[in-house]
Amino acid sequence: MSEDETATPAPAEAEDIPETERFEGEYPIRIRGLRNAFGDQVVHEDLDLDVRRGEILGVVGGSGTGKSVLMRSIIGLQIPTEGTIEVFGHDITSAEPDEVIGVRNRWGVLFQGGALFSTLTVAENVQVPLKQFYPELSQELLDEIARYKVVFTGLPETATSKYPSELSGGMRKRAGLARALAIDPELLFLDEPTAGLDPIGAAKFDDLTRELTNRLGLTVFLITHDLDTLYAICDRVAVLADHKVVAVGTIPELLESGHPWIEEYFKGPRARAAQSTKEAAQAKGTAGAGKHLDNTDPQGS
Ligand SMILES: Nc1ncnc2c1ncn2[C@@H]1O[C@H](COP(=O)(O)OP(=O)(O)OP(=O)(O)O)[C@@H](O)[C@H]1O
Ligand SMILES: [Mg+2]
Repeated sequence: MSEDETATPAPAEAEDIPETERFEGEYPIRIRGLRNAFGDQVVHEDLDLDVRRGEILGVVGGSGTGKSVLMRSIIGLQIPTEGTIEVFGHDITSAEPDEVIGVRNRWGVLFQGGALFSTLTVAENVQVPLKQFYPELSQELLDEIARYKVVFTGLPETATSKYPSELSGGMRKRAGLARALAIDPELLFLDEPTAGLDPIGAAKFDDLTRELTNRLGLTVFLITHDLDTLYAICDRVAVLADHKVVAVGTIPELLESGHPWIEEYFKGPRARAAQSTKEAAQAKGTAGAGKHLDNTDPQGS
C-alpha cells in the first residue's frame, strides 16, 4: 500500500453522511472554573483551559492528576461538580440532550488502552459510532466507509475482517484511531495513544496523527506521557498539577514558568534525549522522530 492510496478520497457514497457546519471560532474547547471531585478526593479545582482550533494540544501531568477525568468531562462522561465546559460554543454541562447530541457527533475518541470491542471485527468496531449517529446508513455503505477509514490509518485492507486479538498493539491503536475518525470528527481526543508501543511504532503513530491532523483540519486533545510525542507533534502543551492547568504554551514557554514539576519533567535526562531526537529530525527535514513521513507500513505496526 502506498501513501497515495491512503490519500484516496472518500468514496462518493460517503457524501451521504449529513454535513454539520464546521466550527469557525477560535476555541473549540473552553473550560472555566472546572471542579471534579470523587467524595472527599478533589481532582480538579478552578481549572481553566482553552484549546485552539487546528492545534495539537498535548496534555501532561503526573499519574492520577486527572488527565483522563478531564477528557471524560469534556466529552460528557463525567459530570463536573462546578464550572463550565464549552465545546464548539455549547456549554455541555448545561445543554439540552438534543444539543449535546449535535455536538457529540463532531468528536472522535481513542480511549486510554484502545478499548476496541473484542467480539467485533475491526470493520464492525469502526461501524459502531456510524450506526449510533447515522442509523439510516445501509450495510453496504457502512462496509465501504469502514474499509476506507481502516486504509486511511495505514492498516492493510485485510485488517477489516480481523478481531482485535489478531492484531499487534500498533495495529490495534490504528484500528482505534480508525474508529475515532469514523464520523469525520472536527475534534479528536487521544488518551495515551503511544503507550505500550515500541519507539519506532510510537514515532510512526505520531507522524500519522500529525499528518491526519493537517489533512483533515482536526483539533487534537492529546493526553500523553511520551516526551517524544510532545516534542515531535504538539503545537502547545498544557500541564496538569495542583488540581489545575498550571501552565499552557510551547515547551520553551513552559520552561519559563519555573513550576517544579515542569522543571523536573522537561529538564530531566529523558527530556534532553527527546529534544535531541527532535533536533536530529529537524536537521533531516522530517516532522517526527527522524523518519520519512510515510503512513506506509505493511505490518501496520
Ligand atoms: N470513576 C471514578 N471514581 C472515583 N475516582 C476516580 C474515578 N475516575 C478517576 N478517579 C480518580 O481520579 C484521579 C484522576 O484519575 P485519572 O484517571 O484522570 O488520572 P490520569 O491523570 O489520567 O492518570 P494516568 O496518567 O495514570 O492515566 C485518580 O485518583 C483516580 O483514582
Ligand atoms: Mg489517564
